[in-house]
Amino acid sequence: MLKECVIVDGVRTPNGRAHAEKGWFRKRTPDELLTAVYDALFERNKAVNPEEVEAVFIGCANQIGMQNDIGRLAWLAGGYPEDIPTNTINQQCPSGMSAIEHAARAIRCGEGEIFVAGGVEDMLNVKMGMGMEPPMRLYERYNPMELPMGPTAEKVAEKWNVSVEDMIEVAYYSHKNAAAARDAGKFAHEIVPVEGHTEEGEKFMVDRDQWIRDNISREQMAGMPTPFKENGVITAAFSSPLTQGACALLLMERGKADELGLSYHLRYRAGVMAGCDPTVMGIGPLNAVSKLFKRYNLTADDIDVVELNEAFASQALACLRELGLEENAPFKKTNLWGGALALGHPLGESGARIVITLNNVMKYERPEAKLGLASLCGGFGNGNATLWEKV
Ligand SMILES: CC(C)(COP(=O)(O)OP(=O)(O)OC[C@H]1O[C@@H](n2cnc3c(N)ncnc32)[C@H](O)[C@@H]1OP(=O)(O)O)[C@@H](O)C(=O)NCCC(=O)NCCS
Repeated sequence: MLKECVIVDGVRTPNGRAHAEKGWFRKRTPDELLTAVYDALFERNKAVNPEEVEAVFIGCANQIGMQNDIGRLAWLAGGYPEDIPTNTINQQCPSGMSAIEHAARAIRCGEGEIFVAGGVEDMLNVKMGMGMEPPMRLYERYNPMELPMGPTAEKVAEKWNVSVEDMIEVAYYSHKNAAAARDAGKFAHEIVPVEGHTEEGEKFMVDRDQWIRDNISREQMAGMPTPFKENGVITAAFSSPLTQGACALLLMERGKADELGLSYHLRYRAGVMAGCDPTVMGIGPLNAVSKLFKRYNLTADDIDVVELNEAFASQALACLRELGLEENAPFKKTNLWGGALALGHPLGESGARIVITLNNVMKYERPEAKLGLASLCGGFGNGNATLWEKV
């Protein structure tokens, strides 16, 4: 019989702007951000000895330079035991979710009881796509101009009829909800303060996400440039911004958590990956969640809370609509504390971050909620979705 995997805890750094002069974490490195969340996890859960961890799975989309095998290097640099194995995983943006699935599946199969799973991405020190050399044969199959992320978001907006007006609402409420959650102290459940620098260069403890716009304006968003296509529709406001951040969860076999006296709110029900046409990669969640619904005989109405990563406003809305989860922003059950447009999207981190936020939204915002869904898309056509159930 399968065992149960529960979320004991989840922590994240604040998300910093990946900007050489303005970013609060511009003087930090990705391994430091990742070690900070490892530290916070063990600090907050003293009953867990790092020596007892079966393995550590960390998602990271761009494993080059400072991020090469970063799960391992941050573990060792942080002083953690050498005999605990680590695995740095790459599924582009869903990497962090893939890390969770690796841990959850191992727990369910009885291949260990205590795991750390998470993600990290520093889009300042390791630029998106840096060092990537796709095979030329790929371009016999696909137009190279259609594969970068921005153009895929333009194509999704066109194919799925997502208007500028609708995207303005998605972005507007993403920022409004994120600001409201921040002001009400809700992110205190998941954010661990990390030292950074103000724009003027003063050291300070960063305890909030840098990208949230308090003065978000629909009028301003209506007239912004479209960097990915001449006379296109996708602007910086409708794109997740370049971000630095890390997160980690403590996942445990239910009986082990009970034995250690640790509490939990959600258990892992299922994880499903699906591929899609890479030129509309943002539609990945549609394929993954459709597959999940079919496999487990569920409909959109069965889902109480959703975290769907807003890589771009167009793909998030297209997926939510096609799945019957939401029609337009403001959303009723999706991204209730804001989405990646406002919070930021450190590529390989976000798939784990949205599970941490889902756990907290279900625990503190919608305690009556029974089923929660987290999903996101990935470059070159990957979708990933996980289903979580209140215990
Ligand atoms: C869209 C993108 C190119 C913009 O990058 P950028 O030009 O470096 O800049 P910024 O994010 O700072 O935004 C550009 C301008 O738009 C403004 N802006 C951004 N969002 C805004 C909003 N919601 N309302 C008003 N103005 C906004 C910024 O303030 C900035 O203006 P400024 O220079 O006067 O400050 C970049 O964010 C991007 O590539 N995003 C997608 C990342 C991605 O593909 N991730 C993977 C997804 S699968």
